[in-house]
Amino acid sequence: MGVTASAPAKVILFGEHFVVYGEPAIVLAIDKRAYAKAEIRSDNKLFFRSLNLKLSGFFEDGNFRAEEGDPKEARVRFEPLKCAVDQVLKIFGRNIGLNIEVNSTVPVAAGLGSSAAVASAVTAAVGALLNVKISREDVFRISFEAEKFAHGTPSGVDPAISTFGGVLMFQMDTGFKPIEVKADIPLIVGHTGVGRSTRVQVSKVRSVKERYPQIFESMRETARIIVLEAAEALKRGDLETLGYLMNFNHALLYGLGVSDESLEWLINASKKAGALGAKLTGAGGGGCMIALAEGGNVERVLEAVQRAGGHAFIAKKIDEGVRIESN
Ligand code: PMV
Repeated sequence: MGVTASAPAKVILFGEHFVVYGEPAIVLAIDKRAYAKAEIRSDNKLFFRSLNLKLSGFFEDGNFRAEEGDPKEARVRFEPLKCAVDQVLKIFGRNIGLNIEVNSTVPVAAGLGSSAAVASAVTAAVGALLNVKISREDVFRISFEAEKFAHGTPSGVDPAISTFGGVLMFQMDTGFKPIEVKADIPLIVGHTGVGRSTRVQVSKVRSVKERYPQIFESMRETARIIVLEAAEALKRGDLETLGYLMNFNHALLYGLGVSDESLEWLINASKKAGALGAKLTGAGGGGCMIALAEGGNVERVLEAVQRAGGHAFIAKKIDEGVRIESN
């Protein structure tokens, strides 16, 4: 008998890139989840399998052995998860063997927070299986460690949103604040299918900042105003204002050079179909865009983004973060 836990993916609604320089950003948990099932083994191996990535392998006595898929990729994917499991085992007080099976409905490497959602789900599943008392704050802390292992110096926004769910305002020096959003925020997420590197996009922005410091300063100030107005519009459920603010935010990101042809193509398609606003989400340079549409127009915008070649889906805001699915 095992325990299954799940955690949601995210989109950055406003403020990406400027958040790196201390400005606030707004993230929203979406109804695409990563699932992790944990079971006790009779030996000492930590065995991981990812059903969606078709990878498996195990850790034993400090060594990793791949069983399915590319061994290097398997190690890269499973080492951060081992880091999370080790921390739960530390609280548990002794080492035991476990089977961890991951199944995620979140597109990978698209800026939707797939690795953090998996890490939060694994942490919660192992904690519940071993009857270890771990709070949501613990799940956040442990999955943040796993993210640091995987990505170097992440801001922490992904593990926070996959643990707590809902809508969060995030700022580097003040942390996370939930935003109470009563209305539905009907979003269409369009994946360009173009791979991108967050690191490369972040360094692109840094060189723009160094070359044009005064212009960057005023863009940064504008980004802050957009985020603060967006927080108010979210509370009011004012979709029209949110649409405008998304367009303003995208114009800034375009100016920084982090949009590309594939994103512009999908953004334009969504607007032609009547989206209230659209922007790239996350690091840019490929990856995903989001469009906001009024209730009656969601399907139309979805179809337009799909016809333009995007792998698109409707994303709903989800209030629940990490949760136990079954015992
Ligand atoms: O890689 P993504 O899509 O989760 O987005 C990164 C967001 C940035 O603001 C560009 C970088 C960061 O660390 O916040």
